Amino acid sequence: MSTWWKEAIVYQIYPRSFYDSNGDGIGDINGITQKLTYLKKLGINVIWICPTYQSPMSDNGYDISDYYQMDPLFGTNEDLYQLIEEAKKLDIKLIMDLVVNHTSDEHEWFKDLQRNPDSKYKDYYILKEGNNGHPPNNWRSLFGGSAWEKLDNSDLYYLHLFGKHQPDLNWENDKLREEIVEMINFWLEKGISGFRIDAISYIKKNLLLENLPQDDVDGMCFPGPWTLNQPGIDVFLNKLKEECFNKYDCMSVAEANVPYHKLDQFIGKNGYFDMVFDFSYADLDIPETGEAYINIPWNVADLKKKIYVSQEETQKYGWGALYLENHDQPRSLNKYLQKQEINFYSSSMLAGLFMMLRGTPFIYQGQELGMTNCYMETIDDYRDISAFGTYERAKAAGLSEKEVMEALFRRSRDNARTPFQWDDSKNAGFSSAETTWIKINENYTEINAKQQLEDEQSLFYFYQELIQLRTKSNYASVFCEGKFERYMEDDENVISYTRLNDDKKVLIICNFQNKESNIMLQGDYQHVLCSNYKDRVHMDINTTVQLRAFEYLILGSMSVSFK
Ligand code: NOJ
Ligand code: CA
Repeated sequence: MSTWWKEAIVYQIYPRSFYDSNGDGIGDINGITQKLTYLKKLGINVIWICPTYQSPMSDNGYDISDYYQMDPLFGTNEDLYQLIEEAKKLDIKLIMDLVVNHTSDEHEWFKDLQRNPDSKYKDYYILKEGNNGHPPNNWRSLFGGSAWEKLDNSDLYYLHLFGKHQPDLNWENDKLREEIVEMINFWLEKGISGFRIDAISYIKKNLLLENLPQDDVDGMCFPGPWTLNQPGIDVFLNKLKEECFNKYDCMSVAEANVPYHKLDQFIGKNGYFDMVFDFSYADLDIPETGEAYINIPWNVADLKKKIYVSQEETQKYGWGALYLENHDQPRSLNKYLQKQEINFYSSSMLAGLFMMLRGTPFIYQGQELGMTNCYMETIDDYRDISAFGTYERAKAAGLSEKEVMEALFRRSRDNARTPFQWDDSKNAGFSSAETTWIKINENYTEINAKQQLEDEQSLFYFYQELIQLRTKSNYASVFCEGKFERYMEDDENVISYTRLNDDKKVLIICNFQNKESNIMLQGDYQHVLCSNYKDRVHMDINTTVQLRAFEYLILGSMSVSFK
């Protein structure tokens, strides 16, 4: 089996907000096809598109009502096949989202069981009797409120770990598992190159039908301990591996929050997936239970430790998926930097820190431009189902309206979902419609692709340079497969690491602060392979080097050349 995905640079697209080709205010599949040359210019070689299947859009497509059809909002199946073909011409592969922990409540299976008490799909979902007029237990859904909802005209409740329009599928049922396998293979046969697999850690449940100690004022508790990576999940995941992923030359990346001691099962030699996302450093500012309105303080040393441990644990067993941003996260510049410190140097330092780690990098749309969080005036400007849940919970926990709005500005998923900023024209060049489905960030006149493509010193070109180093330089193999090692780990404000293989080594240095830092440089690293201060061209070894504010460096023992 080839491991082409180790050399992949993935670009994640949130189709709704990428480019609107038909002027209805919503991004679509043809919009992606029209912008492929932009992606090619950046240098990526794989695209992951968030769900575009038929959906009532309660969770923007993560609530699927037909796994086999594209939603008309995004286009047709033919449009998707054309995208696959056009991307292929540019040597870009396409992976899709696979959402199989739950469907929409408008999926035919669920609709049938609502209509028909003897439905053959009854066992496709998790239905339980209530507890004296109350839900079967006090699990909280991940979007807030009970994880159980009553079925119309029945005493039964259905489980939904996410929104109430997203009933969880019953993976204990053989027939359901067969349907899922068939569907996955249908898409692999169509020429897609793999899947990002949504919420997959949740498919096995330990269904305790009793109330558990509450962990918040709502009387409910986070269901994670009974629903995440439960014993027995291996049977389900191995089936997907053997009957789907192993049969194709594809990549599988799981959205699975796996504790390090279980990583071997997931990504080890016989692991279920090629790679998994590690949540540890993306979620360093919120509690494990996910409450977005609670802010956990952190410093550079904490971030460094999380990155180090994540890299070391992952390389013990297999391969990792790297990311700074995705559609569930706020923008990384706002998360990791102070507002007044966001500039080219800090943004490029952050880019370089992440892009040279061991694993496959995933760049989220707009990250390469330094897009930032979007301030919304009122809760009505938000579109995300989880923003509404956070709003309710934060209010119930006693936060004022102002505090809640600040929390959402800091942590809402909509921060990453505002339209891509193509240029400084109307709607940031995203759509010709009068209004777009969600607000456009007001800073589009300063931050946009057109302006950055015209400026050789832009963040876009810095990403392009990092991608070229990783994929096309004489150092590509060490950037890709080289071992990760800590470097100068005691420095509180500098994050540095080395990557090494048998014949090459590189040192990555990030001065993670808005002032100078002195470091003692040891080892044979006199060649500057990349730097965000263009006057830094040579290093003296075994001397003290003064790094400037947010200076970023990649050093090597020989000079760099490109294929
Ligand atoms: C994770 C997805 O990334 C997120 O956007 C979605 O809301 C949940 N899973 C539920 O599918
Ligand atoms: Ca459209």
